[in-house]
Order: sequence, then C-alpha cells, then structure tokens
Amino acid sequence: MTDHSGYALVKDAMVIVEDDRIAWAGPRETAPDNIGLSKGFYSDTETFDCGGRLITPGLIDCHTHLVYAGNRAGEFEQRLEGASYADIAKRGGGIMSTVSAVRKASVDSLVEQSAPRLARLISEGVTTVEIKSGYGLDSDNEIKMLKAARQLGDEYGVRVRTTFLGAHALPPEYANRPDDYIDHVINEMLPRAHDLGLVDAVDAFCENIAFTAAQVERVFEAAAKFSIPLKCHAEQLSDMGGAVMAARHRALSADHLEYLNPDDVPILAKAGTVAVLLPGAFYFLRETKLPPLDALRKFEVPIAVASDCNPGSSPLTSLLLTMNMACTLFRMTPAEALAGVTVNAARALGLADQIGTLQAGRIADLVIWNVDEPAELSMNIGLNPCAAVMTGGHWRSSSAARFTNDFLPVPGSGHP
Ligand code: NIG
Ligand code: FE
Repeated sequence: MTDHSGYALVKDAMVIVEDDRIAWAGPRETAPDNIGLSKGFYSDTETFDCGGRLITPGLIDCHTHLVYAGNRAGEFEQRLEGASYADIAKRGGGIMSTVSAVRKASVDSLVEQSAPRLARLISEGVTTVEIKSGYGLDSDNEIKMLKAARQLGDEYGVRVRTTFLGAHALPPEYANRPDDYIDHVINEMLPRAHDLGLVDAVDAFCENIAFTAAQVERVFEAAAKFSIPLKCHAEQLSDMGGAVMAARHRALSADHLEYLNPDDVPILAKAGTVAVLLPGAFYFLRETKLPPLDALRKFEVPIAVASDCNPGSSPLTSLLLTMNMACTLFRMTPAEALAGVTVNAARALGLADQIGTLQAGRIADLVIWNVDEPAELSMNIGLNPCAAVMTGGHWRSSSAARFTNDFLPVPGSGHP
C-alpha cells in the first residue's frame, strides 16, 4: 500500500478555475455547485476529464543562473583532470570566464542562447523560474542580463522572477579592492537596476572565493532601503556565516548550505528563511559534505530544491532530475522533493500567497502528469511524463503539443 500522506493527495479530485485563479479544489463529490455564480454557473465553462491523472501545482525553479553566454566545457575537462572549482576561479576562470562572454553579448544574443535552457525546464511543467544576474558585474551588463531574463519570460509565457546578483564575484576592474566594488554595487548598480523595475530580489555570493558576510551585509542593508527581498548563496564551499547573517536580515532564503553548522539551523527556522538545496551543484562538483538535512527537518525549516542552472557548477536544465538528485544524494523523500519545487519554492520567492499549491485563490498554474504515483516524478531519470500545463488559467497548448504527444486535455461533455 503506497503511503500518500506527505503529498496531501486528493483522490478523484476536481479543480475549478475561474479566469486566472483556482476557484475551488478538492474531492469531486464535494465540489460546491455555487462556484462561478458570478459568471453563471458552468454555463460558459469547459470541463476537462484528465482521466484520473495526477495534477500538481506548476513547478517552480527558485534558483537559476540560466541567462548566460558561452560555455565552460574546458573547465569541466580541467576538473576531470584534477583541478577544483575554487582553483579554476582563483586562476581567473570560473564565473569570470562567463562574465567575459556575457559582456560581449547583446540582450538578443543572451535571449537566444538561454532560450533552449528555459524551454527544457518548461517542457517538464515549470511555470515559474527565478533568474539571477551576476555575470555582468557592472551596471550596464547586469541590467542587460535582467532585461534578457524578463524578455524570456514574456516570450515563453512563464513567470520569471529576476534577482540582482551584482555581488557574485569581483570583476577585474576592482582586483584586490572588494570593498570598493561593494560600494559600487550599493551606490550605482543596484539603484540603477531597481529604478528600471528589474529587481524582484537581491542575492550575493558569500564565500571564500567571493565576498565575506560583512560585505554581503552591506549589500543587504542597501537593498532593505528599497524594501527588496533578500536571498543569499551561503555555505556552499565553506562556513562563512552567510546563512545566519541572511536570516538575521529576514532573507527569503539561504541557498546551497552544505557547510551550514547544524547548530545554526534554529536561527533560520526562527527567521522563516527557506533552505534552498541545490543537488545539481553538489553532484557536478562531486561535493561530499551533505547539507544538515536532519537538523533542517527537526527545526521545520521549509526546504526548497532548485536546479541552480549555470555554466560552471550545475549545467542542469531538468527540475525532475533535480528532484531525483535530492532524493538519491540528499535522502530527501519524494514528497519533500515535490514540496521543494512547489510550496516551499514559492516561499523562497516570497510568492507563497500566489502560487505553489492547488488551493482556492491561488493563480491557476498546474500540471497534469502521466504517472500512477507521485513518487514517480522523483524516481525516473530522464523520462518526462508531463502531459499538459496550465499557466494563469490558460492551457499552454504550445508546450503540450510541442513536448508531449500522448495526452491533451479534451473538453468533456456536461458538468459533473
Ligand atoms: O550557484 N555559487 C555561485 N554561483 C553559482 C555558480 C556560478 C558559476 O560557476 O558560474 C552557483 O553554484
Ligand atoms: Fe547559484
């Protein structure tokens, strides 16, 4: 007997959508008959029989760097010959090599180069994607990246949240002057990007190859003046105290966390800061230190899971494979992995009142799957059982037609 308790699964369910919102969701036999009265109940309503298939909220990839130019295949080869990710960064490769490629690219070229990555995520039922800047490292180039991210969202009909990651690495112009660069981020880059309405959140890379907690804190204080929500790359390669500092600033999320001290977990719990785990980077960098899962569970820190799609540490464009990695590498349960790409990912973006669950009032983003059990979403490696996707109350007909061929929702006859 399969245990479905962790999924809040409803058997023989019905979802009623009105305009762009879920009007009701629950067991079909208890569906109210007065929903949609404002429109004349069911008179202009189509009914779709999904044939008993699993319906989940649209998936949310809450941490990506998917807008970039070029590739770092050469570094992949160097690492296979023994160089570490940190060695390559210290030699001026790593993030800086992508910065050089991004600075040469136009917005259109960034859109064109990034589109296949976004399309691949979308094909697996992703309806919301967070995209960070961080490969421009000056005002014009960071703004260019954020514009490309927004343009991708418009072109692909997917909700894109843009995060300003100016404090990702030290650009060559500021070599050995990290505090001066932080001044520039605070006084020039962030205000300009914010003025253009391009910043949904601010992130920073707190790491021994990037910035100290004190430097990141200055960026957070500047963001707070604009009331911009915060996120932090923390404790990926070493324990720099970034997650605790982020929690003290009530950050939405602290991300990576392999080196987070379990004793610090209660501080995240108290702040409501989501732990975003990125098993793709753990896998690709062959990390061996596991994030403190038991402590995160014990103190009920919400755990999200994301692809971290980027050219250096996680060239991963599958959220289903990410869920599989969360289970196989981190020993998360399939139910935790699904919550990690839905309800908890929504929290990590500050959107928990809009998306991430199938409940009345939420935006009607949902996915219909060709699976018998919800655990299949995390179990399979490479299979895409996404049958159809609805975004904001509209069937994403192009994605269903383009990416799947065995099921399209068919209007049924009459109402239930
Ligand atoms: O999340 N950790 C910092 N940033 C990215 C990697 C970026 C890169 O190597 O290009 C990450 O792993
Ligand atoms: Fe990242």
